Amino acid sequence: MNPIHILSALVCVGVASAQVFSSGGCPNVKLQSTFDLNAYLGDWYEIYKFYAAFENGQSCAKAHYELKPDGHIKIVNSGNKDGKPIQAVGDAYIPDPTNEPAKLKLRFSSLAPYGNYWVIDTDYTNYTFIYSCSGVLGITHYEFAWILARQPYVTEEVKTKLFNEAKAFGIDTSKFAFQNRTLCNDK
Ligand SMILES: *[C@@H]1O[C@H](CO)[C@@H](O)[C@H](O)[C@H]1NC(C)=O
Ligand SMILES: *[C@@H]1O[C@H](CO)[C@@H](O)[C@H](O)[C@H]1NC(C)=O
Repeated sequence: MNPIHILSALVCVGVASAQVFSSGGCPNVKLQSTFDLNAYLGDWYEIYKFYAAFENGQSCAKAHYELKPDGHIKIVNSGNKDGKPIQAVGDAYIPDPTNEPAKLKLRFSSLAPYGNYWVIDTDYTNYTFIYSCSGVLGITHYEFAWILARQPYVTEEVKTKLFNEAKAFGIDTSKFAFQNRTLCNDK
């Protein structure tokens, strides 16, 4: 090994251990202490989302949430991909409504494991800020975030408030992609 290789090996180890011991896990986010599921149901427009590979090429995304007879929530996500309408139907529920009411579990296939859908902040009538983070062996983590709104836009005031909340938890708001819905045929 020449000195350059040894140096880069040391740098890599240093970075890896820094991740394990400092920013390796998911950020410690504080969720709403209460959650009113009935007020949350209905239609939401996607305004900001973290770049997520599984949604690549999608636009004009909307979500519709309704209560199922078994107390779970039916999720219907719709949008366009490459100019064609697409739709995904999922299932969500709140595993521990008493102690962690804003922590939902969500999946889009009965074969898939449930993923996290945590509500950091919603006022039910304007916006919701959703977050999901999964740690990988305590070494690294991957995260998703969405800001949805009842109208096809959020005000500058709401955007600033939610971005500031995200920053306070160490969530990188530069990963938010803005959905300009001007051409989306929203009601
Ligand atoms: C939230 O929604 C309510 C009812 O639609 C509206 O009166 C209010 O101005 C909205 N607030 C913000 C901050 O957008
Ligand atoms: C959205 O796009 C339209 C044109 O398609 C543009 O006029 C408008 O300024 C954009 N809005 C934002 C907030 O970027």
